[in-house]
Amino acid sequence: MTDTRLSFVHRFEPAPGAGRPPLLLLHGTGGDENDLLPLGRMIAEGSALLSPRGKVLEGGMPRFFRRLAEGVFDEADVRRRAHELADFIAEAREAYGLAAPIAVGFSNGANIAAAVLMLRPEALAGAVLLRAMVPLSEPPAADLAGKGVLLLSGSGDPIVPAENAGRLAAILKGAGAAVEHRILPVGHGLSQADVTLAKAWLDSNSAKEI
Ligand code: MLT
Repeated sequence: MTDTRLSFVHRFEPAPGAGRPPLLLLHGTGGDENDLLPLGRMIAEGSALLSPRGKVLEGGMPRFFRRLAEGVFDEADVRRRAHELADFIAEAREAYGLAAPIAVGFSNGANIAAAVLMLRPEALAGAVLLRAMVPLSEPPAADLAGKGVLLLSGSGDPIVPAENAGRLAAILKGAGAAVEHRILPVGHGLSQADVTLAKAWLDSNSAKEI
């Protein structure tokens, strides 16, 4: 059930057992807190799922930060919203007794997850970024040592240029993250390969953390 008690409208599904890190599910433009729950259940059976709804509305469509045009971001808003989301993560960890989550974000949700990694690295244990791009033109110097990031891009993605996705991988690597960047023969939408790769990556990363 959708919950309005914390600072983001969200859904929370407790873990059926102990031992797997929780997932923070971040939807794309026009999605909501319900969207990625089925994906979360598919790729991380056994994890708690925390799924907030983006607070910014673009023509009625929820997002996690403002943009000026497709692929052109209001970076002051990116920064403000990344901090707001990191504060919500801390609040939800306290309310639900959670370890730091691994973000699983799609499109706009992947972009805000990348911004949280850069601005508030302590908020996340790692991230699966699906069709992400560079969220800040001048990224701060973050310390991402010990954090794993799986970046899945599409070679035919009309929204995320290959150069941009490559630059994001380089920025995260430069900050010390263990980045695996895979480029799939797909567009912006999710494919079965995303599900398979994300599940395998989460299985091996969760095993490392136990
Ligand atoms: C964004 O605005 O974050 C990206 O252009 C992806 C999208 O939401 O379409």
